[in-house]
Amino acid sequence: MKLPKRIGFANLPTRIEKLDRISQELGTQIYIKRDDQTGSEISGNKVRKLEFAVQEALDNGCDYLITCGGIQSNHARATAAVAAKLGMGAYLVLRGKEDSEVEGNYFLDKMLGAKIKFITPEEYKNSRMDIMEEIKKGLDKEGHKAYILPEGASNGIGSFGYYKAMEEILEQEKELNIKFDAIVTAVGSGGTYAGLYYGNYINNNDAIIYGVNVCDNAEYFTNTILELFKEIYKYTGEEVLVGKEDIKILDGYVGRGYALSEPQEIEFIQNFAKKEGVILDPVYTGKAMYGLVEEIKKGTFNKHKNILFIHTGGIFGWNSFARSLV
Ligand SMILES: Cc1ncc(COP(=O)(O)O)c(C=O)c1O
Repeated sequence: MKLPKRIGFANLPTRIEKLDRISQELGTQIYIKRDDQTGSEISGNKVRKLEFAVQEALDNGCDYLITCGGIQSNHARATAAVAAKLGMGAYLVLRGKEDSEVEGNYFLDKMLGAKIKFITPEEYKNSRMDIMEEIKKGLDKEGHKAYILPEGASNGIGSFGYYKAMEEILEQEKELNIKFDAIVTAVGSGGTYAGLYYGNYINNNDAIIYGVNVCDNAEYFTNTILELFKEIYKYTGEEVLVGKEDIKILDGYVGRGYALSEPQEIEFIQNFAKKEGVILDPVYTGKAMYGLVEEIKKGTFNKHKNILFIHTGGIFGWNSFARSLV
């Protein structure tokens, strides 16, 4: 299958490591793919998506990237870093308040020179696309050509990032002589899951792809992911013939809500760090790994031999609220 072009930013392939002590404790084999180490400023899962989306922006002669996310959005920070690296402008539409503490990803957005517009949660929910279109119009009037990336770069083009990651995993299986029969990722906007699923499907691999949603619910993300397949199809002409029941979203780990932590989640992340020397983030990977461990305990993974968890990054998301729970 012919993929769209991409610009290289990420340090690839990312390592796959065994989680020895957690595996022993749970009586199973758990591995972690270190996509948190795709880079530094431009890091985490977003880089893989940006490699395809930003190439499309460049091919269209764009000199500005516009995107959106929460105030601590990893995707917005990675977009700001890519823009700075390429000498482009970045305009971020963030859900939050101007007087918020300048820390984590928001601090880095500023360091990287991004323009920032804050909007309320209601505006974000109902009209973020219109707001980004307005900004684009303004920039175009000033003589720029702006490219809009949706939340999390989760659209057809962005999803190719994890299509490629799936191919990388298949190569690594050969090198490591391991077959991963379950692959698990956090789900925040759906593009990582959609790309992995698509890669698994097109390559006739029979791993089960599981997602742990960190906001909304399983129904919402199942629909989002099926829609993303349609968008990917526009680029490849290769359809995914699956139904809702094939999309495996493990619901029940959103906790207090998106980017809000519960003490037991933070305690889990602390124990995990001490046991494995790996730092998870409080917004995505901490909740997803917590969910995976709970589901293993419940028996959901009994039929699987080798589980691969994707560490999608997010370390800059340790804001003061989450740290206050440590
Ligand atoms: C660190 C991290 N992990 C996981 C995700 C979820 O990925 P996706 O948005 O593709 O569902 C995101 C972004 O939403 C993220 O920033």
